Order: sequence, then structure tokens, then C-alpha cells
Amino acid sequence: MPAVNKICCIGAGYVGGPTCAVIALKCPHIQVTIVDINQTRIDAWNSEDYKLPIYEPGLEGVVREARGRNLFFSTDVDKGIQEADLIFVSVNTPTKKSGVGAGFAADLNYVELATRRIAAVSHSSKIVVEKSTVPCRTAESMRTILEANSPAECRFDILSNPEFLAEGTAINDLFAPDRVLVGSLETPEGKAACDALTEIYANWVPRERILTVGLWSSELSKLAANAMLAQRISSINALSAICEATGACIDEVAYAVGKDSRVGPSFLRASVGFGGSCFQKDILNLVYLSECLHLPEVANYWRQVVLMNEYQKTRFSKKVVDTLFNTITGKNIAVLGFAFKADTGDTRESAAISLVRDFQAENANVNIYDPQVVHEQIWSDLSEACPTIPLTTLQKRVKIFSSALEACKNAEAVVIATEWREFRDIDWNVVYLNMKKPAFVFDGRILLDADKLRNIGFKVTVIGRGEKL
Ligand code: UDX
Ligand code: UDX
Ligand code: ADP
Repeated sequence: MPAVNKICCIGAGYVGGPTCAVIALKCPHIQVTIVDINQTRIDAWNSEDYKLPIYEPGLEGVVREARGRNLFFSTDVDKGIQEADLIFVSVNTPTKKSGVGAGFAADLNYVELATRRIAAVSHSSKIVVEKSTVPCRTAESMRTILEANSPAECRFDILSNPEFLAEGTAINDLFAPDRVLVGSLETPEGKAACDALTEIYANWVPRERILTVGLWSSELSKLAANAMLAQRISSINALSAICEATGACIDEVAYAVGKDSRVGPSFLRASVGFGGSCFQKDILNLVYLSECLHLPEVANYWRQVVLMNEYQKTRFSKKVVDTLFNTITGKNIAVLGFAFKADTGDTRESAAISLVRDFQAENANVNIYDPQVVHEQIWSDLSEACPTIPLTTLQKRVKIFSSALEACKNAEAVVIATEWREFRDIDWNVVYLNMKKPAFVFDGRILLDADKLRNIGFKVTVIGRGEKL
């Protein structure tokens, strides 16, 4: 089994950064270098005051302990590759915006460029680990590229080791994962590479939680896990629409259903719609894969999960308009939360983006507050979501505030888009006093104490609960 003394991670993003920082923390005997072509990102990882490029509870502590000891961040991609025995490829794989499979297939350009770089600069054999979420058979493409372009003295063994961490809980997920999945070829060399990676995780993960499977099973398992998680949310959200129409309560339904041990209680929180960089992208990958494999029924089945999510988002914004007497033109809507979930500053595919876009289409004024999302990110997301509205116009109609109380001042309605705990704890009496009346609250996350708000005087609408106006 090849000994691993030095690891290089290509890509210092949401996946590569936390994952390899934790590997460095847990394996002080291994040197871990995380490289990225983005200088600003690397500078942030190296910043003296630990202003890291991503917000993740617990991450700073990990970086403080390991950085400079056996954890390094660098833009010298080639050196990182050359020195390493094992390389994680953790580059971005967004959905393609043009060409074949546009809107569905993953853009593998970054994976391919990183792979070609490994082939071009390596002087020694390496284990190359596919960490980014990729469509099935990407490992095969990586292997073909490496074999066709590498010097004769180098051998490359490819592994698939998908990451299951969720943002906001990444460090806990990495410290105590439900499972670590390693996929390899069934050859002796493939198995030896698999053993080498297993040994790294075995430094802190119980061996029975480290699963070894075939390369293709590993790749498909990642897509399947995300698709099935997203499917649970779309299922509960579909039921939330029935609850609203009948007066049933989605929290009670979810509780009752989740008590069946075959179903389980997690991931049954109705919401204004799932977001994040993975769910939609991975399902669309699965749809594309199914279509390529001439399985249209399978493709349609998974596509429906995304369509239901779109429906949930537009259903919610329509509810806001309907409740505010069928017009929000010129009205002030406070949107609390812009991240796709709590405890992250990430806005990728966030439901809040769709809501603000819909409110813009109705010519409302929108006041946004989020405790973590940086303002430039909000402007860039909204510009992309509202391509026909010039930024200067957008900035007249949308304002970003630095507290929830300020954002709610003079608003006709408050919309909870992200389940930040602090929204539960703000002084709703003060919010009420400062709002126009009737004062409406739309809870898209089942976060607030609706009865308490009603006692203050608010008109409250909660996703998945029959109207009690
Ligand atoms: C079901 C519910 O389980 C039960 O709670 C409810 O009260 C009645 O309906 P039942 O239809 O008796 O019970 O059997 P169940 O074990 O749920 O199986 C239903 C079908 O699903 C069977 O054809 C079974 O073979 C199939 N199945 C079940 C699978 O194909 N795969 C599985 O993993 C589980
Ligand atoms: C997900 C997977 O959980 C993780 O295993 C994978 O590695 C990456 O994709 P992430 O996108 O970071 O992680 O967050 P997750 O907690 O799964 O939430 C995704 C979206 O679903 C969020 O918008 C969240 O608010 C929403 N959600 C989640 C619900 O609406 N209801 C739920 O019950 C759970
Ligand atoms: P993820 O959520 O999958 O981690 P991110 O976009 O957060 O995705 O991070 C991916 C990182 O990979 C980015 O910082 C990007 O600059 C980096 N990257 C992409 N291609 C390369 C490459 N060829 N070499 C080094 N870094 C790369």
C-alpha cells in the first residue's frame, strides 16, 4: 500500500477547504496543502485575523490549530501537485449554461483542466481522488486524460470519495460522518489506493463507517443521496400545499409520518423551497444521465422533484401578493434571510433570490437583511436573477440593511426566507410598532411562534398551516 505523507487539495471552496482542513487537524503526521487559482480566496484562508472566505461554525478553530503546522494554503498549484502523494480534486462543477446539456449537465471544464494540470506537471505516481460531485463515469474520463498525458514513470490511481457534508454543520459532519464512501476499481492497484485513503480517514472515523464500493456505485451514490434528500423536501412541501388548503398542519403531519422508523424524522421540515449548490444541480445531473441512457420515465420522475421546488417558491410569493390585497406595487416588503439555509453565508440557489425576483416583478420595494451574506453577493445574485432590470434601478427598489429591526421599519410585510435563530429572538413588539398596519408576517420556515405574533397584532401566514388570519 502506498504511504501517504503529503496531500494536495485542488480547490479551496466550500468542499475542499473544510474537508482538507479537518484532515490536516486529525492527521498531524500528514502535510496538507490546499491550492486554488483564486488569489483572493487563498489570501483570505491565510489572513492573519482569520477572516476566512467561507462562514462555517467551528471552521476557524480548526484552521487556527492546523494552519502553519501541517496545513498550508497556496496559489502554487503545480508545486502542490508535484509534492503530493494523494490529490483531492475539489473544484467547482456548476450546471452547464450553454452547449449540449445546458441547464442540466454538469460543467466538467474545471475538473478536466485540473486533471490535465496533474498530468502535465507530475513527476511521480499519485492517487487522484475525485471529491467534487460529478456525473457517473467522470472518474473514467479523468483516468483516460491522465493515462494519455502522463510521463511513463508516473502511475495514477483514481478514487471516488464524494463529500456528504452539509453547509452550516460541515465541521461536525466531518468530525463524525454517518459514513465515508470510497469507490475504486476492483484491480489490486485500485484496492491498494482505496486502502491508502481508508487509512487516512481511519485516524478519526470508525472503520465500520468507511464504506468501500466500486467506482461507479460511489459516483451514483452521491447523486442518489442528494436526490433522495431533496425528494423528501419536495414531498413534504407538496403536502404543505394540501395542509394550507385543508387546515391541516404540516408540522403535525411531518411529526406523525417521521415517527415511522422506516421513514425517520429528519429532513421533513416544510419550507419555502430547498436551495444550495447541490440538490438542484445533482438532480438535474440525474435527469440528464437518465435521458442519455434512454430512460425518459426515470428522468421525468426526478425532474418532478425540481418542478415541485419551483412551485413551492412561486406559490409562496403568490401567497404574499394575494394576502396583501392582490397588490404589492410600491409596498415595502422586508425579507429576513438571504442565505439558502441558516448558519451559512452561501446564497447559491437560495429561495430568497426567487422571492425577491418575484417581488420585483410586482414592483414592490424590498428591504433585505441577512446576518452573514455579504452585500456584493446579494447584488450579484439579484442582477443575475433580474437581467432586465438595470442595477441602478434595482438599487433604488431594493435596500440592504444591517439589522432585522431596520429592515422591518415601515414595512407592510415581513417574510422569513432563512431560518436564522436570531429572527425568533428579535423584539417583535418593536417590529410591530414600526410597521404599517395591518402588519403581515409570512413565515416560510416555520420558525416563529405564530400565536405570540398574533397576540401582538400581526396577521401571520405560516407555510403548511391552514389560514388563521
Ligand atoms: C403497508 C405499510 O407498510 C403499512 O404501514 C400500512 O399500514 C399498509 O401498507 P403492506 O402493504 O402490508 O403495508 O406491506 P409493506 O411491507 O409496506 O410492503 C408493501 C409493498 O412494497 C410490498 O409489495 C413490498 O414487497 C414492497 N416493498 C417494500 C419493496 O418493494 N421494497 C421495500 O424496500 C419495501
Ligand atoms: C446537502 C446535503 O445535505 C449534503 O449531504 C451534501 O453533501 C450537499 O448537499 P447542503 O446543501 O449544504 O447539503 O444543506 P442541507 O442541509 O441539505 O439543505 C439543503 C436545502 O434544503 C436548504 O435550503 C434547506 O433549508 C432545505 N431543507 C433542508 C428544507 O427545506 N427542509 C429540511 O427538512 C431540510
Ligand atoms: P465547491 O462548493 O464544490 O467547493 P467552490 O466554487 O466553493 O465549489 O470551490 C471550488 C474552487 O475551485 C474555487 O475556489 C475555484 O477557484 C477552484 N478551482 C477551479 N478550477 C481550479 C483549478 N484548475 N486549479 C485550482 N483551483 C481551481
